[in-house]
Amino acid sequence: MKKTLQYLIDKKRAGTPITVVTAYDYPTAKVLDEAGVDSVLVGDSVGTNCLGYKSEREVTIYDMIHHTSAVRRAVDNAFIIADLPYGTANSIDGTLLNARMLTDCGADCIKVEGWSEKAEIVKSLRANDFTVCAHMGYNPQIHDKPGVYGKNEAQAAELMEGARALCNAGAEMMVLEMVPAKLSGEISAWLPMPIIGIGSGNKCDGQVLVVNDLLGISQKIYKHARSFANFRETMYEAIKDYMDAVKSREFPGEGNSW
Ligand code: KIV
Repeated sequence: MKKTLQYLIDKKRAGTPITVVTAYDYPTAKVLDEAGVDSVLVGDSVGTNCLGYKSEREVTIYDMIHHTSAVRRAVDNAFIIADLPYGTANSIDGTLLNARMLTDCGADCIKVEGWSEKAEIVKSLRANDFTVCAHMGYNPQIHDKPGVYGKNEAQAAELMEGARALCNAGAEMMVLEMVPAKLSGEISAWLPMPIIGIGSGNKCDGQVLVVNDLLGISQKIYKHARSFANFRETMYEAIKDYMDAVKSREFPGEGNSW
């Protein structure tokens, strides 16, 4: 069954946590979809996790189109969210054109980083029938270093105000990244839209994790992430075993030869 925004809203209302995982390629997205994740996020984290870029800010709209298309080909059920990368959501006309390219290649929803300054952009996306996921708290496209946002009263008020502005502008989902657990719980209880947390505690309506962290491929794991497997070691061992088998002429064996 194809999962829709309404499906995610129903899960929020029922108090059932929503599962979101990033994906950048066909085989990974296929497994995520088969496992039944609610939503796949083609994040601009593709830059540092997949393309060898030093920063998310190097990711282009063409990278996003390429990877969103691959994920779309794999996914039958999950709700696909795609990021507008750095510098592609500044002017209204430019944003609409970039968002259209992402939905044309398969995104169900467009994610926009930023706080209340993005309200006008979100409003115009919504007015043009795009489903928008806002992204507040730590914003890699905007903030120079990862950090917790909303720790002091002034920042918490700014975050609440921004969340209200983006909701009023028409955002229908929101990612909260590195926001104190108590505050993100309050925002989740307060706003009608599904709030997806990362590093924001377990009171959000759902969680998103970068697939490289989840599988244990990343070299550095943040405090708020968890590896549920050690793929890096498994891959390394498999490659070493293959090399040994080739060097000893054990592979290809008789069964592998024509
Ligand atoms: O790009 C990404 O993967 C993200 C998540 C970390 C929320 O924005």
